[in-house]
Amino acid sequence: MEHAEMDRQKMHRMHGSISDAMTHVNYKIAIISGKGGVGKTSVVVNLAAAMKKIGMEVGIFDADVHGPSVPKMVGIKTEMRDMLHGSHGIDPVTTPHGLKVMSVALIWPTDMTPIMWRGQYKARVIRQFLCSIKWHELDFLFVDLPPGTGDEPITIMKSIEGLDGMVVVTTPQEISAMVCSRAINAAKELNAPILGLIENMSSYRCPDCGREEFLFGKGKGEKLAKTFKIPFLGGIPVDGQCSDAADDGIPIVYKYPDSLSARAIVKIAGEILERLPPREKVVVKHREWHEGRDHHKQ
Ligand SMILES: Nc1ncnc2c1ncn2[C@@H]1O[C@H](COP(=O)(O)OP(=O)(O)OP(=O)(O)O)[C@@H](O)[C@H]1O
Ligand SMILES: [Mg+2]
Repeated sequence: MEHAEMDRQKMHRMHGSISDAMTHVNYKIAIISGKGGVGKTSVVVNLAAAMKKIGMEVGIFDADVHGPSVPKMVGIKTEMRDMLHGSHGIDPVTTPHGLKVMSVALIWPTDMTPIMWRGQYKARVIRQFLCSIKWHELDFLFVDLPPGTGDEPITIMKSIEGLDGMVVVTTPQEISAMVCSRAINAAKELNAPILGLIENMSSYRCPDCGREEFLFGKGKGEKLAKTFKIPFLGGIPVDGQCSDAADDGIPIVYKYPDSLSARAIVKIAGEILERLPPREKVVVKHREWHEGRDHHKQ
């Protein structure tokens, strides 16, 4: 028997399967990018915040083993690690805005621990982690992946059975046909659709005269999406308030809801909703804790 299969069976006996852990998750969406630093994590946390704002139950799984930064962007302190381990799985941390977050950063021994996991070991730890997380009822689970379209993000996406779609984030500087074709191949392999492409940092509006400048060319993302016959979800302008919000650990959709970039993200969330098959909204069960176990209240 293959090692991977043996691992899977062993893990199933220990923790149940990943699909068991995600039984009550309506839509699972992975966000990918060609390279690092294009704003993938900002898009993940703000799409999550935009969905939460319209009444959805939302979770974020930060699987970016190279630079897990979701906790910082949503204001989760790593001390919260201590709260994670119950006897029956791991509860995600709930942010003040009600997002349920779990990150590989929260199972790191300390912030200073270098991230040097070996490939196979990394995938195994992530799968084991995914088996143990108690997401309960979620309308959306957004997954932040390691940058790139190589083996690592694909392996992680493969762990998530029934992925409902992938969203590609690029910037006008990065726009690359290779990223798109690789993402499309990955989507075929995973049997999940590409929900669309987002062009982050698409333009800059001069705060003095209000003029919109396209520093790296206009409409590049839209053109690329058209070439590859994938939907273009929209552009997000460069906005100084983005990093300010990120530093404060509050998604811009909450902190500066009227900013151009927050409005762009809310619009993109609407585009994504339109592209997903309609499903009934989840009903969150009230749970009470007794002797380390959660009991459903009927
Ligand atoms: N539209 C934007 N306007 C201004 N700043 C932005 C915008 N989008 C992202 N940023 C900033 O760019 C930096 C990188 O963003 P982010 O961490 O989301 O990218 P990433 O692709 O997840 O990077 P990494 O590869 O490190 O995970 C952050 O400081 C973020 O605040
Ligand atoms: Mg990131």
